[in-house]
Formats: sequence, C-alpha cells, structure tokens
Amino acid sequence: MTDTAAARDQALDPGKVSEAEARQELEALAKRLAEANAAYHTDDAPVISDAEYDVLRQRNAALESAFPHLKRADSPTEQIGAPVSETFAKVTHAQRMMSLANAFEEAEVVDFDVGLRRFLSLDDTAELAYTAEPKIDGLSLSLRYEHGTLVQAATRGDGTTGENVTPNACTISDIPETLEDAPEILEVRGEVYMSHADFEALNTAQKAKGAKTFANPRNAAAGSLRQLDAEITRSRPLRFFAYAWGETSAPLAETQADAIARLTALGFQTNPLTKRCDGPAELIAQYRAIEAQRATLGYDIDGVVYKVDALDLQRRLGFRSTTPRWAIAHKFPAELAWTRLEAIDIQVGRTGALSPVARLTPVTVGGVVVSNATLHNEDYIAGRDSKGADIRDGRDIRVGDWVQVYRAGDVIPKIKDVDLDKRAGGSVPYEFPVTCPECGSVAMREEGDAVRRCTGGLICPAQAVEKLKHFVSRAAFDIEGLGAKQVEQFYNDGWIREPADIFKLKARYGSGLQQLRNREGWGEKSALNLFQAIDDKRNVALSRFLFGLGIRHVGESASSLIATHFGTIEAVLEAADSAVSFEGDAWDDLLNINGVGEVMARALVTTLTQDAERASIARLLEEVAPAPAEAPEVVDSAVAGKTLVFTGTLETMSRAEAKATAEALGAKVAGSVSKKTDLVIAGPGAGSKAAKAADLGIETVDEAGWRALAGLDPS
Ligand code: IVH
Repeated sequence: MTDTAAARDQALDPGKVSEAEARQELEALAKRLAEANAAYHTDDAPVISDAEYDVLRQRNAALESAFPHLKRADSPTEQIGAPVSETFAKVTHAQRMMSLANAFEEAEVVDFDVGLRRFLSLDDTAELAYTAEPKIDGLSLSLRYEHGTLVQAATRGDGTTGENVTPNACTISDIPETLEDAPEILEVRGEVYMSHADFEALNTAQKAKGAKTFANPRNAAAGSLRQLDAEITRSRPLRFFAYAWGETSAPLAETQADAIARLTALGFQTNPLTKRCDGPAELIAQYRAIEAQRATLGYDIDGVVYKVDALDLQRRLGFRSTTPRWAIAHKFPAELAWTRLEAIDIQVGRTGALSPVARLTPVTVGGVVVSNATLHNEDYIAGRDSKGADIRDGRDIRVGDWVQVYRAGDVIPKIKDVDLDKRAGGSVPYEFPVTCPECGSVAMREEGDAVRRCTGGLICPAQAVEKLKHFVSRAAFDIEGLGAKQVEQFYNDGWIREPADIFKLKARYGSGLQQLRNREGWGEKSALNLFQAIDDKRNVALSRFLFGLGIRHVGESASSLIATHFGTIEAVLEAADSAVSFEGDAWDDLLNINGVGEVMARALVTTLTQDAERASIARLLEEVAPAPAEAPEVVDSAVAGKTLVFTGTLETMSRAEAKATAEALGAKVAGSVSKKTDLVIAGPGAGSKAAKAADLGIETVDEAGWRALAGLDPS
C-alpha cells in the first residue's frame, strides 16, 4: 500500500479516538487547513501537496461525522464546501424590468404615433398625449419600498432576475431610505449615473493610485455600484434619476407626468427636462431642445424617451416580449470617427456564419476606444447590398483604407464609409474566403442569404466552441464560473466537446480535484463552486434548455413560447418529428404558436431531426432533466386556455388590441378556424371563417359578446 493510500484509509477511520483527542485534532486540522488555504489562494504559494491536503480534509470530515457536536464554528468543511459568495445574490423582479424599442429618424416618431392610434382605434383627431424626457446613459435600478422603507435594490440583470445591491444603493444620497405617504408597496425604477465632473475626478484619483480607470461615465457608474464592498460604492459619487415604477399597491397617479411629479414629491430626483407633449410635432421639438442642451447637461444622455401619458392607455397598450408598446427611445445620431483599417479577420459563429471583423487603429468614438468593428458580410465589404445594388456608391473597403467608424448606443461599432482619396496605391480588393478559416471546410452561400457559412458542422472547432459558449451563456444555462474563456480552455484541452460533456466534468476530472485545481486560474474553491454551479443546472427550465441548443432563428422569447406550448422536451422532439414534411397538423400546430413564423419553425424542425444533433441532445438528456415549462399563468377568465379566432370588423378596438387582450386573458389567438378553435368572434362582414365555424359547430359571438366575456365593460 502506498503512503498516501494508507494515510487515506486512516483518514476515513476515526478509530478509537476519545472525545478530547478528537476536539484537539479538529482544532489542529482547522488551523492547518486554514494555513494551507491561505497559502494556496491568497499567496499563490502552496505549503502542502494536493494529496496531503485532501487527506487532511477527509480526516476532518470523518472526525466531524463521528463527533457531530464537536464540529467547529470555523469548520474547514463549511468554509470550503460552501464558500462565501463571490457574487451578488440574485433577485427575481416582482415585475419584469423592460427595455425600450428605438427610433433613429423623425419619421419613426410619426410612425410610432400612427401605430398607437391604430392599436387603440383612435382617429387622427383624438387626443393622444405623451411625455418626453432625456434617456440617461447609466444603468437601471429597481428600488423596492415596503411601508415606506427601502427593503431592496436590484439591478436589471436579464430583466427577470437582477442582482441584489441594497447596501450599495443605500450609499447613494439621491436614494431616500424612507418615504412618507407612499403606497405600502412601491418599486421605484430609474437610472444610476455619474456626472462628467465626478467621472473626471474619479479617473484622476484612480490614475494617481495606479488603479484602473474607466472608459466612460456609464462604465464608472456600473463598476462603482457593483462593488461587493459597499464602502467602495460610498466613496464614488453616484446619482439617481427616477423615471418609472414596478409593483405598486396603489396607483401613483393617472398620468405619467403626474406619476413623475408624485415621485418628485416623495423625494426622488426626476429629470427637469421632462415635458408633456401633445403629439409627434411637440415631441420632436422637445427632442431638439434637449439635444441642443446635451453638451451642457453635465451627464451623458443618449436620446429622448417618449411615453404615452395616460396610464390607462399604457395598460391597454401593454408589452411586447421585452419592450412596452407605449414607449420608445428616440436616439441621438451615432458618433463618428475616422481611422485606419489594419486587417480584416473572419470569425466563425455557432451557426457557421463567417463574419468579417475590422481590426482598426484604436480611435475614440463618443468617449469609447474602438479597435474592432463589424463589416457585416462580403457584399458589404464589396460595396453592394444583398440585392446587388450599390452601397457607398459602390466603394469597396480594403485593408489599409481610412474608414469611418460609428457607434450608436451599446451596439457593436460599424464601418460606415471609406475615404478613397487616402487609399494607398497598389491596394487590392479584399477577397472573402470560400473555405472556413478554422476547419478548412467549404464555406457556402445559399441563394438569398447574405452570409457565407462553414459546412463543417460539429467538426468545425469554431462552431463547436461558439455553440458551447452560447450554451453556457446568461440567457441559456447560465452556468456561473463557466464563461467564454473557460469554455475555450476546456475545449482546447479536449475536456468538453459538446454540452453533455460539461455535466461529466466532475466525474471525469473532479476526483480529488487535482486536475482542475492544478490548472492556472483554478483553486479548490473555484473548482467546487463550478461543479456546484453545473449540478444546479441539471433541472434547468425547458425554455433555457431549448435556447441553449442554439438553433438558428430560435431566440430567447421564441424558446419560451415553444416551451410553454409543448411543456416538455419530449413533446417538442415529437412535434419536430411529426412536422418533418413541413405540412400536416403538427406543422400547422407549430405555425399557430403565436410568435413562431415559418422560417423559425423550419429551422427548429430541421435541426431537431438531424441525426447528429439528436444524438447530442440524447446524450445531454442523460445528464439534464429540463424542468417542464410552467403552464402559462392560469388567468381567471372566461377565455383562459381557449383558442379564439377573430373575423370581420371590430368596432371598439383594433385587431391588434383584441389579440393582445385575449392573450393577456390566457387565450390563444389563431388565424384560421379549425377543429381546435373554441370560439369565433365575428364582426360585421365576417365571411368564410364564420361559415366554417358554423359548419364545425363552433361557438360564435359578436363583438359585444366578446367584450362581455373579456370583462371589458364593467357593470
Ligand atoms: S423607461 C418600461 N425612461 O434605457 C420602460 N428608461 O434602453 C422602462 N433609460 O432599461 C424604461 N433613461 O435603463 C426609461 N427616462 C428613461 C430612461 C430609461 C434611461 C434606460 C433604462 C432602460 C433602457 C432601455
């Protein structure tokens, strides 16, 4: 028997140790392990071997299980097995934190108004008022007050779940800790930001200390708020503007403008440039007035937000999957700068798309240093659009050219133009590769597709790695501690090739943890955390599971819709198999899911019925049991769970509003009448659909009947 094996056996057998001896030994072990941990983690200078360390831990565990009452408050098992969290606790928002749809042109502002009128069935002369206010360039924060006391502050996160930053928010002087005369429950939402002057001073101080400086005030605000040590946040001059609310136990007001006035009265800072406007012309005038003051405001704004003023109309308009219908952000024009294009690199994405990336001589664009920009696709570089028409008057883009970079908001910078006068003699047009730079497979362009794609599938390392990165990403499996960098590391070492391998990591490489622990960047604590984070996702929600598969065209919200519709992964796979001919009931059923179009449905069916993909999913399902999707919240309504078809003219509301209302009441709205239809709402002029309903014996009501069912005419 080797020494280590003998020691291990002894470790596992506390033998005939007396209670007094055990107490002493546990004390010694706690000390020794604490020293070993400190040497390993803090000093990066281990004092004992991994094998010795493991034996000590096992001995400690064995003694603790033989003498549970002797377990110390500073027990090594507690400290390492359940380390203090290195991140913020997660918070589920009582009401989702939404983002905003964007408009860039004045014409889009007019379209916004026209669209709302149509949705609300308002004619051109009816009053439809808005508010206009600056769009603050910071990070949003939700403050929850209960009985007038701040009980929780949370960042937006993915909109559903954010981070608990309550102690940090309490250090911001614009944020009241108590409120008087507020509703019992009130969630106030707004933007944390840093002024230009404070930002400059912070960077000067950071530089003097040799500490990290920030690229812009928004990064400085985010970095300052998200500090585990709230005292650091306290030392940073953060500010807060309130502009919205989440859950409230009583309405704040009847209009947006009055609600903002109420927030001001409660003690919040609200933006003084907020103005009530009567229509698009006034909105645009306020946009111009705000834009004219932009440089002298002293803080960054990136546009003007327009919101419908009447809160009952906001309620009727409701939300799309991530944005309210009743608001829009009119963004300021993008910022521009000229620089040299040093190289064009090709990146291969998870669906095999070859994307050209411009490597630029670094240049500051609107306060941010830009050194990479997207070049979209080969046509864009050549100076034509997908239909072959000229863009940039046909000027192509070549390596070595002077190019104009632009950046709008958070999006990836783009190349807008090229300066031919500065083009060097002897330059040659860029030749877009026709083979994959990563795996050498042919890269094909399908007719009508602007993108050239690698045909290597899973043999292409770039596609495989990108698929894995997508799989672990925040909106998919969201495995903490397993980010893009770690995925690359594990992939390159052959530890993971496909999603299922992630769940086998612990069994394969975790024994004794040596393998992972000996790697650069990994300690025992982070390794244990990782295995725990992975295990936590073995029951991931079905919507995340589906999104994680990375199927083309199937985004986050579509994944949720599909998950809710089918409930289980087995039902999804079965539906794909039955719809493989792209016709028949199963196919129609897919297309009838609200929000699923033909392109998406095709991609879903094609991918899920491919042998290699299916085998990979089967291996994943041996490790993971996706939690069945929750049935859509059962709404207590007469139409909940029913499939409705609207036909003919509705007089009191638009089709769009009728559909949104029905969906909010838990019903599905289909475009055509079939055996599955439960109810047809027929207005004047209803034709073949009403006839078919009569044929099939389906219940049919008129608009008044529908309004009564929907509870729209309170008696
Ligand atoms: S209203 C439901 N108003 O912009 C509507 N948002 O791009 C919630 N923002 O996530 C947003 N200034 O962080 C609103 N005056 C303002 C804003 C504002 C900045 C941010 C907010 C939001 C993002 C959307």
